[in-house]
Amino acid sequence: MDAPQFDPQAFGLPESPALVLDLSDEEVTRRLGRALAQSLDAGAFVGLIGNLGAGKTTLVQSLVRTLAPDAEATSPTYTLLNEYETDPPVVHVDLYRLETYDELESIGYWDYAESGFAITCVEWLDRIPEAWPREGLILEMERVDSQRTARLWATPGFDTVAADISERLTS
Ligand SMILES: Nc1ncnc2c1ncn2[C@@H]1O[C@H](COP(=O)(O)OP(=O)(O)OP(=O)(O)O)[C@@H](O)[C@H]1O
Ligand SMILES: [Mg+2]
Repeated sequence: MDAPQFDPQAFGLPESPALVLDLSDEEVTRRLGRALAQSLDAGAFVGLIGNLGAGKTTLVQSLVRTLAPDAEATSPTYTLLNEYETDPPVVHVDLYRLETYDELESIGYWDYAESGFAITCVEWLDRIPEAWPREGLILEMERVDSQRTARLWATPGFDTVAADISERLTS
């Protein structure tokens, strides 16, 4: 069965992505993670949408390691939320096993996501669209067999951040 198509309009995003990237190997995914680490400030939100094995956790790992080379970012699938004491801190959430928005609220999600102190990265954001603060970046990662593609979407307030990320990847 095909995964439902990502609908940028439903997330209040423009019609076209700010950046489309062919993730030809894992190093390209890691470079994108590094570019995000270098371009994002505390308070930024990054939603990660994409099928199993698309590279969402790999990207967050790279982002965390760029901010703190010794930090180990594991998949938070079983813990729901991991917080890394990087500078700025990174909050890594995985909604894959979450059933309801109430569950998310009960772990204090918004205290993390809207604290302004951390970069918040949320895998499987499309499973609980209410978790999207409607401001920030959405990275759509698609894997078809061994082909991987990333599309970076930005709300208007994050246009310059997206341009900065593109610049880092192309220069
Ligand atoms: N271009 C690539 N980018 C990212 N990962 C790649 C790439 N090529 C191969 N891989 C491999 O694919 C796997 C991606 O796994 P990862 O856990 O990052 O995916 P995910 O999107 O978080 O999946 P899940 O939905 O299960 O959380 C890793 O084992 C990685 O080594
Ligand atoms: Mg993952």
